[in-house]
Amino acid sequence: MLDPKMEKALNKQVNAELFAFYLYLSIATWMEDKGLLGMGTWMRSQAEEEVSHAMRLYGFVQERGGRVTLAAIDAPATEWKSAQDAFTAALAHEVKVTGMINGLVDLAHEIKDHAAAVFLQWFVSEQVEEEAQVQEILDKFKLAGDHPGFLYMLDKELGSRPASFITPPLEA
Ligand code: FEO
Repeated sequence: MLDPKMEKALNKQVNAELFAFYLYLSIATWMEDKGLLGMGTWMRSQAEEEVSHAMRLYGFVQERGGRVTLAAIDAPATEWKSAQDAFTAALAHEVKVTGMINGLVDLAHEIKDHAAAVFLQWFVSEQVEEEAQVQEILDKFKLAGDHPGFLYMLDKELGSRPASFITPPLEA
């Protein structure tokens, strides 16, 4: 049986993961529009991963006898100053999600929901990875400065991310 407080908090997390899907898809379309097809592929793949996060939460709520209630998803931004700016926005969202996951873990301990505490550990680890991979890209931007070939090289590199499970990679 799922505590109503935990049910509400997990539903909020489902919404945050779906917002992340929207945000990354919005970044993907912006990048593709700018001709950054490799980065677009990377962002599409990232967006789809967020759907899998939402569905993982969905499954847990339903399995515990709770109910998933879908709320409206906020509209994401649609414009960024640069690719670096877009990745900075992605990192800011990941940091926010990490805080929300930590809050869920705190709640699980507070109400002694051990099953939720165990379930949420996957998300704790996943957030370390999620933040690190975007930070790594941002570090490359810092290192490269204004080097003209950098964006081209990074676009190629990010386009090699394994194909996502819904949409195929774009042809550069
Ligand atoms: Fe589902 Fe990128 O956090």
